[in-house]
Amino acid sequence: MVVTRGEVPVELAQLDPLRRSALLALSRIVVRLYRLRRGRRVRFGRGVVANHRLRISGPGTVVVEDGANLFAFGGRTRLVARTPQARIVIGRNARLNGPLLQADTLIEVGPDCILGEAHILDTDMHSIALDRRSNPGAPVRSAPVILERNVWVARGAAVLPGVKIGAGSVVGYGAVVTTDVPPGVVVAGNPARVVRSID
Ligand SMILES: CC(C)(COP(=O)(O)OP(=O)(O)OC[C@H]1O[C@@H](n2cnc3c(N)ncnc32)[C@H](O)[C@@H]1OP(=O)(O)O)[C@@H](O)C(=O)NCCC(=O)NCCS
Repeated sequence: MVVTRGEVPVELAQLDPLRRSALLALSRIVVRLYRLRRGRRVRFGRGVVANHRLRISGPGTVVVEDGANLFAFGGRTRLVARTPQARIVIGRNARLNGPLLQADTLIEVGPDCILGEAHILDTDMHSIALDRRSNPGAPVRSAPVILERNVWVARGAAVLPGVKIGAGSVVGYGAVVTTDVPPGVVVAGNPARVVRSID
């Protein structure tokens, strides 16, 4: 089998042929089950890798593009499209190992991104208004989250509603990203700040 970028995840090139075939067979089962269960609310590209630790839920749409690797080792990779309008898009050759994504509007993970066990949410889920417990119509902030190409979000980090992270940037362990991040930098801390640039 010729392994080319975009057809199957790059990690699979390092596996011996037997393990690669087993993993692809398992992935095909997972993909098929989700297609059956979710119909038009899920789209998988070619060569997507996933295991039983993938959870896709909610009434919205989830799109996973060619060669994305959603195989989770310890935790679960959870993609929750919480409203009928919600969209979660996982780009080509992205690598997700146990993150939680919760979308009311849009979460876009660009091609070649890496997500560890991070939390990405495009909604606050509750209102900050004082009557939040008595008024079901209290306003809740929701705004798309965009990760451009080749962003790495490390374990324990959170990316909050409305944030755009520029291409190539890295979010350090445990960072809480509250505002946009330019391309080509490392951010860390709470709230996340630029700690260095990437040459
Ligand atoms: C993102 C990361 C790789 C960046 O490493 P780096 O570029 O070598 O960063 P540096 O060590 O040069 O740190 C630069 C500054 O940011 C600070 N910093 C780095 N990571 C930090 C973090 N996670 N939280 C708070 N501050 C951090 C450093 O203390 C340093 O501060 P100083 O300039 O005042 O001394 C690293 O921070 C990290 O998070 N590693 C863990 C990755 C991980 O979780 N992997 C699991 C799989 S996803």
